[in-house]
Amino acid sequence: MAHILHIDASPRGDRSISRTLSKEFVNDWKATHPDDTVTYRDLGHNPVPLVTEPWIAAAYSSPEQHTPEQAEAIRISDELVDEFLAADRFVFALPMYNFSISASFKAYIDQIVRVGRTFAVDENGYKGLVHGKKALVVAAQGGSYPEGSPAHSYDMQTPYLQLILGFMGITDLQFIRADNLMGGEEGRNQAIANAQSALKAAVSNW
Ligand SMILES: Cc1cc2nc3c(=O)[nH]c(=O)nc-3n(C[C@H](O)[C@H](O)[C@H](O)COP(=O)(O)O)c2cc1C
Repeated sequence: MAHILHIDASPRGDRSISRTLSKEFVNDWKATHPDDTVTYRDLGHNPVPLVTEPWIAAAYSSPEQHTPEQAEAIRISDELVDEFLAADRFVFALPMYNFSISASFKAYIDQIVRVGRTFAVDENGYKGLVHGKKALVVAAQGGSYPEGSPAHSYDMQTPYLQLILGFMGITDLQFIRADNLMGGEEGRNQAIANAQSALKAAVSNW
């Protein structure tokens, strides 16, 4: 039995491709894995706060030293980290914005990448503390950035996610992209259909 954290980051509703695809995937997953449980977080409609000065002071000091303002700032982060660590698997549904992740997802990353909780640092450098978990990234992209193409280096979404999730210790990643969504109706429909079949396959092989 696995526990899944499903996160949507698009601010769009039913028009969001990442949201629609991830919802279909999680519904199919639940139908075929009825014992698994899912926590859902909608960053697109309910963004988490940005890191602030009280947050930083609290993240690098012990709880007994925290002012009420610092305690409140870090309480939200602690809850998000607890929720993150409780999951065995992650489904991240992410729009590509300006060649990378959306600000809503970056704000979430800033809340959960926490020293002593999701990574550690010692004389040998940094060490991820989150192990044995898998992440499935459902990315929606207006353009297309295939390997070997001149556009490939514009995709900062994929390498950033590999880096930051890997930094915390999460290296079992699968990317399913609906790309070329602004490439005309035919290209868009084909990309959505391709992503849907990859997600159907992932229901049995993820
Ligand atoms: C603010 C903004 C920035 C975007 N930047 C990019 C981009 O840099 N590259 C790209 O391929 N698509 C870009 N797009 C297109 C989105 O990735 C595309 O519309 C995608 O479907 C959004 O995800 P969603 O359908 O889940 O909302 C951008 C869209 C918006 C609204």
